[in-house]
Amino acid sequence: MKLYTQEGLNDYQLSLTYDDISLVPTQISKIKSRNETKTSSKFFDIELGLPVLSSPMDSVTGIDMAIELDKLNCLGIINRFDSSLQQVIKGDFENKIKAVSIALNSSDDVIAPLAEKNYIICIDTANASNSSVLKKCEEVKLKYGVKIIVGNIAHGSVLQSLVDAGADAVRIGIGGGSVCTTSIQTGIGIGQVSSLLNVYLERNNKKLNIELIADGGIKSPGDVAKAIALGADAVMLGRMLAGTKETPGEVIKYKDQLWKKYRGSASFAVKMKNEFIEGEETMIPYKGPVQNVIDGISDGLRSSMSYMNCLTLESLRNTSSFAVLSNSSYLERLPKK
Ligand code: IMP
Repeated sequence: MKLYTQEGLNDYQLSLTYDDISLVPTQISKIKSRNETKTSSKFFDIELGLPVLSSPMDSVTGIDMAIELDKLNCLGIINRFDSSLQQVIKGDFENKIKAVSIALNSSDDVIAPLAEKNYIICIDTANASNSSVLKKCEEVKLKYGVKIIVGNIAHGSVLQSLVDAGADAVRIGIGGGSVCTTSIQTGIGIGQVSSLLNVYLERNNKKLNIELIADGGIKSPGDVAKAIALGADAVMLGRMLAGTKETPGEVIKYKDQLWKKYRGSASFAVKMKNEFIEGEETMIPYKGPVQNVIDGISDGLRSSMSYMNCLTLESLRNTSSFAVLSNSSYLERLPKK
């Protein structure tokens, strides 16, 4: 069976996503316990305990989620519609949160006070390969000099333009989000693994200075491990964090089960008008505190690292033994009832 390096996998003739690949341990691991592994990772100048970012969606990251993730040494990007935004702008949550999303048409009244507090600014758009996004990025960078996250992109061909416009990090993935209907509506997008690898290798080959965020389609701690092994600096999660206590919105009781809503940023429920809809709305079983999810990711990732003989994430990012799975191999890997 052929084992692939990152370059080899990038050359695979079909576009691949997380369920299509697997990590293959090829060394005798010297790691005795997964507690020996270190999941800390720098994102910009922030030392994260685990490189997990929450998506700036209105059903994922409000102020409670952002504060809790900060406590857990992860990074919450508060959504720009959150009811706390005026307080954030006033400075009520300084030192409690680190990142905020803005829209393409957000004005200086919003951006200037956020920049003054040195928040990371995420320009939250569906398509960063667009001249208006590049212009906004350039303007914000020149005026305020803050760290900027842009997104989303599906391919490395546009990476240089984003770097030239002053982007410090990019969200990678179009069409892969779990409540995303972009690919159905537009026919756009490639598998998340191929997107990520393509951008990763472009960055390395051109020695570009930009951090890579794997965004969309991550369903399990194993997918987090795969994204990092493929070279992601951080992962961005929507569905995995949705349904937890800290997300905005009510807990709903229906048929003896507790639920919370999760909806796409471009869903009808968010837009509430007859614009083009590229997202869905769904219910997620209530999961309790987000710490449970973060702990689960940390445990899975550490275990993966010990199989792969990687004490650090830097070492996991140099993985060169990926397998491509047949559909039956993928099914074989799932627990049976
Ligand atoms: P998930 O973790 O698979 O649920 O994906 C979350 C990601 O889906 C977000 O971070 C966005 O990049 C993307 N996304 C969120 N809302 C929409 C939408 O309405 N349409 C398309 N993509 C979306």
